[in-house]
Amino acid sequence: MERTFLMVKPDGVQRGLIGEITARFEKKGFKLAGAKLMNISEDLAKEHYGEHKDRPFFGELVEFITSGPVFAMVWEGKDVIATARFMMGKTNPAEAAPGTIRGDYAVQVSNNIIHGSDSPESAVREIGLFFKEEELVAYEKSVAAWI
Ligand code: TYD
Ligand code: MG
Repeated sequence: MERTFLMVKPDGVQRGLIGEITARFEKKGFKLAGAKLMNISEDLAKEHYGEHKDRPFFGELVEFITSGPVFAMVWEGKDVIATARFMMGKTNPAEAAPGTIRGDYAVQVSNNIIHGSDSPESAVREIGLFFKEEELVAYEKSVAAWI
């Protein structure tokens, strides 16, 4: 079963949106495999966003993502990587459709509420950066048979 790494960013935590965001993925039919509220170190931030290290916004991005706690999660399900990205909406909230998380709750690209892995390779890499294998929980969820 496919897995992805999703994270409510510090703005989402501060604004009290952990429950709202988590509820969307639960109601959609995906299965939560792991979650934790945590602070991100500068080293982890730079590693996680390494692909953007030469972009002009990199410094501010690292500063923002380390500015307060994040809610890190692993979700499982069929095509969960692409579907979660679709549910998040476009990177720039101004272009994110209403009904998507960024479309409904965010205004600025620098404070866009949620992170989600963009490919199977990123998902494996990011899950490995944030979670130990023993922090992920395998269990049966009865609703899965209906979705
Ligand atoms: P990116 O990986 O392109 O977007 P996504 O989060 O949708 O995968 O960029 C990572 C984060 O960097 C993005 O969520 C917000 C921030 N960012 C900016 O602050 N300014 C920008 O111009 C871009 C493209 C991203
Ligand atoms: Mg990205």
